[in-house]
Amino acid sequence: MKNIAVFASGNGSNFKAIYYKINDGVINGKINLLVSNNPRAGAVDFAYKNDINVKIVNDVRYPNENKKNNEYKNILNLHKTDLILLAGFMKKIPKNIIKKFNNKIMNVHPSLLPKYGGKGFYGINVHKAVIDSNDHFSGATVHFVNEEYDKGPIIIQKKVKLEVDEDYNSLSEKVLKIEHTIYPYAVRKFCEENIIINKNKVYISE
Ligand code: GAR
Repeated sequence: MKNIAVFASGNGSNFKAIYYKINDGVINGKINLLVSNNPRAGAVDFAYKNDINVKIVNDVRYPNENKKNNEYKNILNLHKTDLILLAGFMKKIPKNIIKKFNNKIMNVHPSLLPKYGGKGFYGINVHKAVIDSNDHFSGATVHFVNEEYDKGPIIIQKKVKLEVDEDYNSLSEKVLKIEHTIYPYAVRKFCEENIIINKNKVYISE
């Protein structure tokens, strides 16, 4: 069984979706650590209520960058982490962690990457940009994390169609629903060791 560490800064609806799939026995894994920069995040509250270890890592507690990066490494070692899931985590993952967990860090992004990815594109900003561009489709992407923001190998994507009167709030809800299906799916496949990466391309076997 894989040990999973979730990194979340906000509400944590993706974290919860994955947690419930594990509880239902659909995913063969265990979330044994929740890392957040934000002690008031909904994700933190949920972790406490469900007896998941919580670690707050931010610039206030770790003003020294090296110490902060070492702390990430230490807690992940301590929890024997096999897989890191970024679930609305709004801080950059340090290079030492990306290196050590090559193809073992996943992220969910609320657009069809490579569209609307990179610096400044997170959360509701993404949906605003999609609406402003009059796109007919949007969607969500689960990808592995590498050193380039939102550019790691794509694991799975799913599209949604925009309605004529779509606004960024309704789009956000639609996309989040998709995230809650594709992210647990990708995690399940990882835990079953059914994800293969060859030359930066991801293959999922049945
Ligand atoms: C999700 O929509 C996720 O795709 C987005 O933040 C939201 C977190 O929601 N992530 C990014 O924009 C990363 N660039 P949640 O806290 O309810 O899971």
